[in-house]
Amino acid sequence: MSKKTNGAAQDEASGLRKGLTSYGDSGFSLFLRKAFIKGAGYTDGALDRPVIGIANTGSAYNPCHGNAPQLLEAVKRGIMFAGGLPMDFPTISIHESFSFPTSMYLRNLMSMDTEELIRAQPMDAVVLIGGCDKTVPAQLMGAASADIPAIQLVTGSMLTGSHRSERVGACTDCRRYWGKYRAEEIDDQEIADVNNQLVASVGTCSVMGTASTMACIAEALGMTVPGGATPPAVTADRMRIAELTGTQAVEIARQRLRISKILTADAFENAMRVLLAIGGSTNGIIHLTAIAGRLGLDLDLKALDRMGRETPVLVDLKPSGQHYMEDFHKAGGMATLLRELKPLLKLDALTVTGRTLGEEIERAGPGFTQSVVKTRQDPIYPQGGIAVLSGNLAPEGAIIKQSSANAALMEHEGCAVVFENAEDLATRIDAADLDVTPQDILVLKNIGPKGAPGMPEAGYIPIPKKLASQGVKDIIRISDGRMSGTAFGTIVLHVTPEAAIGGPLAYVRNGDRIRLSVSQREISLLIPEEELERRRREQPVTPPTAERGYKKLFLDTVTQADKGVDFDFLRGVPAKPK
Ligand code: FES
Repeated sequence: MSKKTNGAAQDEASGLRKGLTSYGDSGFSLFLRKAFIKGAGYTDGALDRPVIGIANTGSAYNPCHGNAPQLLEAVKRGIMFAGGLPMDFPTISIHESFSFPTSMYLRNLMSMDTEELIRAQPMDAVVLIGGCDKTVPAQLMGAASADIPAIQLVTGSMLTGSHRSERVGACTDCRRYWGKYRAEEIDDQEIADVNNQLVASVGTCSVMGTASTMACIAEALGMTVPGGATPPAVTADRMRIAELTGTQAVEIARQRLRISKILTADAFENAMRVLLAIGGSTNGIIHLTAIAGRLGLDLDLKALDRMGRETPVLVDLKPSGQHYMEDFHKAGGMATLLRELKPLLKLDALTVTGRTLGEEIERAGPGFTQSVVKTRQDPIYPQGGIAVLSGNLAPEGAIIKQSSANAALMEHEGCAVVFENAEDLATRIDAADLDVTPQDILVLKNIGPKGAPGMPEAGYIPIPKKLASQGVKDIIRISDGRMSGTAFGTIVLHVTPEAAIGGPLAYVRNGDRIRLSVSQREISLLIPEEELERRRREQPVTPPTAERGYKKLFLDTVTQADKGVDFDFLRGVPAKPK
């Protein structure tokens, strides 16, 4: 190798010769690198192989990734069978329940960590081991920005448990049981008992929450090996997928199949179809928008809504349906769904196997009788799971998960009961003197990207105790925040622009009338425009700021929900042919 390696030559370099540390002498840089890695006992023969990085997100704080050691072993085995050199490295790992103030606040940081470690360290391809809600989007965002050959491996779903003969799983049932407890339908002993059963093993939430949604989306995007989305975390199938992922990683390294060749506009369209058909998490839209943005692509929410009118919910999983991820896997997983959706998909989209999605559907063979994935003629819900709303309350859009909403509330006018922020909500929601009826509409402000900050999953506003104890199970709720993919109810989310930057939501007052019409895709504040203007002038909003650190970076640069809540400076430009 020449001592003077220019940038272009570096770009074409492979294996350990990639991305040499800058000592002003590339020959010495490689010499030094090899000397150090040989300290770990490697031979020259091993170091000449294609290098496959493995982003390892195993962490004691992340039980959703509790099988990471076994997955890592299986991926390494696959890489070595195919003649590659596996090199695992740690990155930030995020778990939903162990992230303060909220996991979304850290997603972009994890994506930057992933991107920069992929860039900084020599690798010809990278295997991304992720699973819990924010980890897969963060990894795909980071890998998309680094634009090297990449393949996603998800950790897989947890098993379901059993509580007093009832099958339970995180986290739709967590919310259901907590709702019963709040309504005093179950006692302290029972809520403690069910706490032991909701998470029966390591792995990601067992319903169609955000983690399962992102797993299905990753496969629909062509970013996993076929069948990679659904095997539960602790099964032999999951380990086989891990081994195959390792083997395929070497192949995409040899073919130099960059992620930008996979993550095309067609791939994102397929992902949106799947998001709608699985009754997927509303968070999936934000994450898909952010991933697309890294490649300079825009996700068209209006197109998503149009697709939703012709893409029914087919997968019968909680929270929209009845089953759990392990049932979806036994029903054939994504192959069964993709076969049913075939007429609606962009079949020429390339996948990490080097074959198209259409070819993979053909290779999966014929389906079999099962009861989890419905036909388009007999769906769970006649339209897509998510509807996109707009109106003077949300000029840049809002969304509702219509497949898990209450049909009786989807065309409704009511009076606003306003909470100014999460603290105000916590203080007053259960007050005996809260002036609220089941016909009212709960409005929560300042839980958007900048407001909280980090757009927490606080949009699932609890039913006020006063109503819950009367047996009220649902009420319209509106906020600029998100909700967990495992949650359900007539809940309008992602109101954009958010209250904290002066969106119309900031000016809603107690008693204002609001109209929700899901059929018309409308969310309107029924006050005259002049009144709204008057309130704006009287109460100008000052967006939040911070003095230093990551919080300052976050508040200064985070975008709104319709732009993926990514940092504005991380958006990419469309890839040039390479
Ligand atoms: Fe990790 Fe639900 S908390 S997937």
